[in-house]
Amino acid sequence: MRSTDVVIIGAGAAGLMCALTAAARGRQVLLIDSSNKAGKKILMSGGGRCNFTNMYAEPANYASRNPHFCKSALARYTPWDFIAMVGEHGVPYHEKKLGQLFCDNRSKDILQMLLGQCEQAGVDLRVSTSVRQIERTEAGYRLSTDLGPVASSSLVIATGGLSIPTLGATGFGYEIARQFGHDVLPTRAGLVPFTIGGRLKDLCVELSGTSVDCVVRCNGESFRENLLFTHRGLSGPAILQISSFWHPGDVVEINLLPDRDALEWLQGQQAARPSSELKTLLGEVFTKKMATLLTDRWFASKPMRQYAPAELRDIAAKLGAWQLVPAGTEGYRTAEVTLGGVDTRELSSTTMESLRSPGLYFIGEVLDVTGHLGGFNFQWAWASGHAAAQYV
Ligand code: FDA
Repeated sequence: MRSTDVVIIGAGAAGLMCALTAAARGRQVLLIDSSNKAGKKILMSGGGRCNFTNMYAEPANYASRNPHFCKSALARYTPWDFIAMVGEHGVPYHEKKLGQLFCDNRSKDILQMLLGQCEQAGVDLRVSTSVRQIERTEAGYRLSTDLGPVASSSLVIATGGLSIPTLGATGFGYEIARQFGHDVLPTRAGLVPFTIGGRLKDLCVELSGTSVDCVVRCNGESFRENLLFTHRGLSGPAILQISSFWHPGDVVEINLLPDRDALEWLQGQQAARPSSELKTLLGEVFTKKMATLLTDRWFASKPMRQYAPAELRDIAAKLGAWQLVPAGTEGYRTAEVTLGGVDTRELSSTTMESLRSPGLYFIGEVLDVTGHLGGFNFQWAWASGHAAAQYV
């Protein structure tokens, strides 16, 4: 039987970071992935440029049933630690906006940096390798794998969430958690576009490709970002962000005029430009197409002087607090992350180790820790992987 200090299942962001850090500490590490390639999500991320961290990452950027859990790991491996690694390896990058750091060139630069360090530290990486069964032994864990039986004193689960099955996502990590007595909190797609039904869908289809700055609100959370109309409904960063806080049936409120009070603006325009048509005024704020479609669908366009005060209030309400109930989300097929997962209340926040089964660790997205959009999810993968690597 093959024997090693540490087996890590899942060679994604968290697994690679854990492997290279533990191996640099002198641990013998076997890193297994069932996909034919390590780090597929890294390659796909950030539109091919990997938004690898966020300079302003802090615990408030993460959703979890146990909001304190992420604090320790995030404090011990900060965005600046990862930025230093990126700098040492000469990977060019830039801040796109809001602290979001992207590669200048390709996501591959980040993956190559991680794989290079794994190789240098002697990590044994095996792709296209499945783990069939895991048992606890006196000395640690025994795995039945495509490589034959493998024994290790530490076992790290880094299998990620359920989003994008075509990139290798499986529910394996949740099965292992349950096998060793852990609770798995209900999972659902996060950072995902909304689908829209009924007549509103026609508007979305006609405006497909149009992007607009807005403030979107749901369940006490709000984000100011762009909204994008799509053939299926609504997307764009504002929608992806709020989708993580939305449950079926919840109302989403969208302020399409985030820089002004809608009613005051309309009243001011009525006083200053009574002969101008509403459509003309909206065309100065939105695209002409959007202004035309909004006035065709929502309000009859006429000269501003002809609107009664109550009509102006209705228009202001629609523009400043447009309320809609999405039909659903596009689900795991396109979601960037999975909300919920392994309950962190049964893990050490210092080591990521199971409080139920010594030597068993969970890191990355398989846990019930989900970041906002903007590099926060990778930062959690790096930080949790680095934390576990100190103890495996
Ligand atoms: P990850 O999913 O990266 O890795 C899990 C690994 O486990 C995979 O390699 C998988 O093949 C393997 N695996 C699964 N089941 C297995 C099994 N049974 N046996 C063996 N191996 C198994 N975040 C961010 O911060 N910035 C960004 O720009 C983006 N962009 C982005 C784009 C897209 C399209 C997606 C889908 C996601 C993002 N994300 C993101 C989110 C980010 O990719 C995600 O949070 C991290 O990759 C999570 O890292 P993990 O290592 O936990 O899982």
